[in-house]
Amino acid sequence: VTAEKAGFDHFMLKEIYDQPNAYRDTMGSRISMDQDQVILNEINMTDEEIKSIDRIHIVACGTAYHAGLVGKNLIEKLARIPVETDVASEYRYRSPIITRNTLVIVVSQSGETADTLAALREAKRQGAHVIAITNVVGSSVSREADDVITTWAGPEIAVASTKAYTSQLIAFYLFGLYLAQKLETVEADEVKKVISALQELPQQVEHILEQSEQIKTVAEKIALHNNLFFIGRGLDFAVVLEGSLKLKEISYIHSEAYAAGELKHGTLALIEEGIPVIALATQEDVFEKTVSNIEEVAARGAYVLGISQEGNEELGKFVNESFTIPKTLDVLSPALSVIPLQLLSYYASLTRGNDVDKPRNLAKSVTVE
Ligand code: G6P
Repeated sequence: VTAEKAGFDHFMLKEIYDQPNAYRDTMGSRISMDQDQVILNEINMTDEEIKSIDRIHIVACGTAYHAGLVGKNLIEKLARIPVETDVASEYRYRSPIITRNTLVIVVSQSGETADTLAALREAKRQGAHVIAITNVVGSSVSREADDVITTWAGPEIAVASTKAYTSQLIAFYLFGLYLAQKLETVEADEVKKVISALQELPQQVEHILEQSEQIKTVAEKIALHNNLFFIGRGLDFAVVLEGSLKLKEISYIHSEAYAAGELKHGTLALIEEGIPVIALATQEDVFEKTVSNIEEVAARGAYVLGISQEGNEELGKFVNESFTIPKTLDVLSPALSVIPLQLLSYYASLTRGNDVDKPRNLAKSVTVE
């Protein structure tokens, strides 16, 4: 078993460190030799069919749902098609509006989650085209979907998902760019720029991993608390939802993730002296606004960890601890900013003496409804 962990203490840590290669393998041959185009031979839709898509539903559970929230944001940005993201256990029961022009994307690491599979079947029954993003070749979801984008993360053993999530993000970047090329919603130069920034991600993840000690120190402090908050806006909000889930799953610390601007509509009442707040502020267009939300919690005594992109170090002035991720395009930042949050959960769980790879009450794959 130690050998399978490649010298790491836990599968989760190994899988966190597998991410640079998971990114490389998932991008792999899907980027053209000239590095100016995304090639997705696995999508069997005619250009006409792609042009007729008038809405997209992304359906998934747990961490895969959180990848879908990022997917919504970037498909809307890149391809200008309206996207809704649903939790699979809710989807079928809300009478979703599905037509022949609806594209449904199901996301599932295992490809066996009962609710996700049921959603896929319902979408197909109603005539939608279904694309699966999954990590397991030959899984139920991959067999039943019309098309499959495989994430090449390799086997994920730890219950808390890490490299499967980030590989799902890479799959969404590729698919978003693919749609943008077909629909001509993004200039060719811009596509090239995103592709080149995508290719820098693996090395940038390595750079973050080299700074894991810094996150460990913060994790040891937050592990003493029973409640904490995550805040962020836009894409950062989607990422903190995942950060909060990760922390709950393995450290058993109660946390809530809030859209930073929504705090003052209720949750601010819970901010008291010493409570940890983890703030993501990687998005240039809302940076100042997030900073002012950070000031609101800091003024009430919160202990704030601020995470921003290189170049925005001024965040350090407003927070107790700061961590910087390498500079990337704002749209790509989730693929970097989630890494310190994964490490934070890992080290908090470790500090609390929990069984990191096998958290209580949870299963890797839930095959019952
Ligand atoms: C379980 C796992 C989660 C996972 C979710 C969806 O609850 O514990 O980590 O995100 O199922 O799994 P899937 O295999 O469909 O991505």
